[in-house]
Amino acid sequence: IRKAKPISHLRGSHDQLLYLIFCVFTFAFAFLASTATPTSNGLEEEAVGYGYAIRSVTVDRSGKSLSADLQLIKKSSVFGPDIQNLNLIASLETKDRLRVRITDANHQRWEIPSQIIPRPPNSPHRSLPENHHSSPGNLFISDRNSDLIFTVHNTTPFGFAVVRRSSGDTLFNTSPEGSDSGTFLIFKDQYLQLSSLLPADRSSLYGLGEHTRKSFKLTHNQILTMWNADIGSANLDVNLYGSQPFYIDVRSPDSDGRVPAGSTHGVLLLNSNGMDIVYAGDRITYKVIGGVLDLYFFAGPMPGMVIEQYTELIGRPAPMPYWSFGFHQCRYGYKNVYDVANVVAGYAKARIPLEVMWTDIDYMDGYKDFTLDPINFPLDKMRKFLNALHRNGQKYVVILDPGISVNKTYGTYVRGMQADIFIKRDGIPYLGSVWPGPVYFPDFVNPAAGIFWGNEIKLFRELIPVDGLWIDMNEISNFISSPPTPFSTLDDPPYKINNAGIRRPINEKTVPATSLHFNNMTEYNVHSLYGFLESKATNAALINVTGKRAFVLSRSTFVGSGKYAAHWTGDNAATWDDLAYTIPSILNFGLFGIPMVGADICGFSGNTTEELCRRWIQLGAFYPFARDHSEKYTIRQELYLWDSVAAAARKVLGLRYRLLPYFYTLMYEAHIKGIPIARPLFFSFPQDIKTYDINSQFLIGKGVMVSPVLKPGVVSVNAYFPAGNWFDLFNYSNSVSANPGKYTTLDAPSDHINVHVREGNILAMQGEAMTTERARKTPFQLLVVVSSSGNSSGDIFLG
Ligand code: NOJ
Repeated sequence: IRKAKPISHLRGSHDQLLYLIFCVFTFAFAFLASTATPTSNGLEEEAVGYGYAIRSVTVDRSGKSLSADLQLIKKSSVFGPDIQNLNLIASLETKDRLRVRITDANHQRWEIPSQIIPRPPNSPHRSLPENHHSSPGNLFISDRNSDLIFTVHNTTPFGFAVVRRSSGDTLFNTSPEGSDSGTFLIFKDQYLQLSSLLPADRSSLYGLGEHTRKSFKLTHNQILTMWNADIGSANLDVNLYGSQPFYIDVRSPDSDGRVPAGSTHGVLLLNSNGMDIVYAGDRITYKVIGGVLDLYFFAGPMPGMVIEQYTELIGRPAPMPYWSFGFHQCRYGYKNVYDVANVVAGYAKARIPLEVMWTDIDYMDGYKDFTLDPINFPLDKMRKFLNALHRNGQKYVVILDPGISVNKTYGTYVRGMQADIFIKRDGIPYLGSVWPGPVYFPDFVNPAAGIFWGNEIKLFRELIPVDGLWIDMNEISNFISSPPTPFSTLDDPPYKINNAGIRRPINEKTVPATSLHFNNMTEYNVHSLYGFLESKATNAALINVTGKRAFVLSRSTFVGSGKYAAHWTGDNAATWDDLAYTIPSILNFGLFGIPMVGADICGFSGNTTEELCRRWIQLGAFYPFARDHSEKYTIRQELYLWDSVAAAARKVLGLRYRLLPYFYTLMYEAHIKGIPIARPLFFSFPQDIKTYDINSQFLIGKGVMVSPVLKPGVVSVNAYFPAGNWFDLFNYSNSVSANPGKYTTLDAPSDHINVHVREGNILAMQGEAMTTERARKTPFQLLVVVSSSGNSSGDIFLG
């Protein structure tokens, strides 16, 4: 008892007595744990051998914040020494948000700086007022207005739980199970482990990216790795370009009827280090190689409300310009400015709307950012081309890569060296290799790099007035993988995350983990923040030079990237499987607060086919971000190249353009509340548990449902209709009545995709046109889909 942390201002003898009783209990547990006699098989010792015990708990007077001192019970032998003393702070930051942060009690550890991801401070000294009290009855925090209750279990080892007050449903429970060391809290310098029990039969989990997955709902026995990597999205189940350690858990009803179907909460582990999240059996286990355990729980209880609460913390999605909802055409391998101009002409001739023309790295001189190839994309011709585009109300976007060519005759490089903004290793800029050959990478953690980058963008825009920017290879992708010397535990951490699905060294094909950023932050810690920081700098630069909303498309993302950028799913393949996987990927980014998302229409790598491309544009026309893009050595796939694809494109893009006011309103709603543009069916129908397993349909907003064909040679789809009357948006007289929800086989001839609107919706629409500017000038129409209940509603944002 004497060793207990003194609590300075107890409020009178009653509290003192309770505190004393509490301490006796705590230490009795801890003592028993540390002296447990091993049994013959050692299991019992294991059971109490790991984890931490509570030394003391204090709850602040408001009852909304709790601090617990934790002490290691027994060392574990793997992944380095354990940290002896931890501190846990739980606080109800808002009525819908609970934060639980566990870190080393005595030493400061790496955490994402609040300059990078702003959030309320959380430290024992600041969050707890001086007059606090402690008693065994106070091992939980709650608030009358909040549905979340946090409880610490005074067990050995200790655990904590988050419970929904209204239903008694346990949302998260870290109490370890028996002797299974995989369920204990472990806290080492380079290995943090936390595991929660889930009601496996009632939890449907979604999120945790970025991965390409067959199923939108997470399936059991998966390792979900996070470590940003240039791995093509055609690879299933491995870590890809971004890290999004956020999931939502949609609950099915429990047997005694207390938990309503669709009751949803969200969980974020705010941590930028590499990690594996293991979803197996009835547990979710975080295995993280650095930082702190900083968990946020979002109460919901409806799916849309969770995303609203989540984006309140991480930042609401950027407002997107109206034009970005038009159709985009890109390709890696356009030969010259004439080639590009011909594509624009090809679209005009085929009467297929084309809003934005893009060029990949081909436009650059020797793949150097902010330059033009003097032979194939000369300045005067480019200016002419751009003028013509702009006169026609069309836009132009170009790619930028982070690697700056090391070349003393290259102005950007010279200015970068002068500003001293490159990532360093051993005191000199780290030399990587990407398209231009040897490169240095701007350190976007350094505010001066943002200034440098902004200036380069300004100079480039003086050369040619691009409308938006596409930032690629920002994981960071590096063609060099050689192990750096000297080699440290940062380069080769004791726990190997499942990088690339093969536990590939974390240094491979990126910048070595021992490289240094601004203020000596290590690449090990900031690695997965790079694309996020580049997005932020690029967004600020564009707003600064145009005075308008910025359109930035970023391949790499982190928590909060939606505030600055749109995203595409990277290098998919022109296959039917990849066509299908775009739906889970796009829905996931909606959950991550990055609603402006699309996949390369008709497929990026490999040769597409007429049929695949036709089906892909039919689906892609309803992605929030709709861009056709392909790899250099594949056949061309502009939509006008096949008559049947061109006809399909006119039809579906025609509907998309008529729906532009609806898309734009959804973008506004996303910006104000965070709610996705493309949504899973359960967002509108959470009580319908059949919607939880759907991978091949989605909603745009609350009431437009897209049911695409995803297989070759097929002319019908078996689509699920949640309860209600649904009307075909191409032909209002085709309707489906579902009561209750049911699967229906729909005709899907080669020129048709099924898009339905549900009763009760009012859609603001306008006319078709070749550009969004012209579509915006056509008369508005309100499509009022009368509901059997008599009430229909809809929104329109006109700003
Ligand atoms: C990789 C990107 O993912 C792809 O879209 C692009 O075409 C190539 N880099 C070339 O820049």
